[in-house]
Amino acid sequence: MAGRFIVFEGIDGAGKSTLIDEVSKKLESAGIRTVVTAEPTEGPIGMLIRSGAVKCISPNAEALLFTADRACHTSEIVGWMEEGTTVLCDRYYASTIAYQSAGLDGTVSGKEWLMDINRPVTVEPDTTILLDIDPEAGMRRVGERGARSKYEVTEYLGRVRSNYLEIAEEKGFRIIDASRPKDEVLRETMKILGE
Ligand code: TYD
Repeated sequence: MAGRFIVFEGIDGAGKSTLIDEVSKKLESAGIRTVVTAEPTEGPIGMLIRSGAVKCISPNAEALLFTADRACHTSEIVGWMEEGTTVLCDRYYASTIAYQSAGLDGTVSGKEWLMDINRPVTVEPDTTILLDIDPEAGMRRVGERGARSKYEVTEYLGRVRSNYLEIAEEKGFRIIDASRPKDEVLRETMKILGE
């Protein structure tokens, strides 16, 4: 049987990576083979994005880079699923819609265009879980981790969060209140996956 494709979305500090590791452990101990993967990837385009080597970048150019990275990633994801492995993915196309249409530098990419460029290079996940959290609370967590990317600005993340909630409504993502204790968030996630 083909594996499932489960995506986790949310603003920086929502707790996606910790949750994904816990979910993977639980699924593996239930005999379900999983692979944990993330975007931006560690492939050549993902590494280019992370390197900061591309200067003077507009949200449109950035969206194209994230989407090109995703196009390669999608082939890998489909391959894993065909092998019967369940794929747990930290960010997918909704990240590009939510972030690149939020206008970090005052310019925005249109949501429709972002959807259009993503459609041919993505597959629809079986489930997308949106970890929803107030940016202030998210930033406190990121602060604890000590990492701050240019995207980690409270006001900007407020707009990213609204975009996420809008896409979630449109696409039927499952929304979890990520401000609650970790074990409750994990329990709710496992309940959704059980369905
Ligand atoms: P993140 O998940 O924080 O990766 P890591 O923890 O490994 O640094 O992603 C890095 C940043 O990239 C994050 O702030 C969100 C942003 N991003 C976009 O703006 N658009 C996208 O399409 C993706 C995948 C990420």
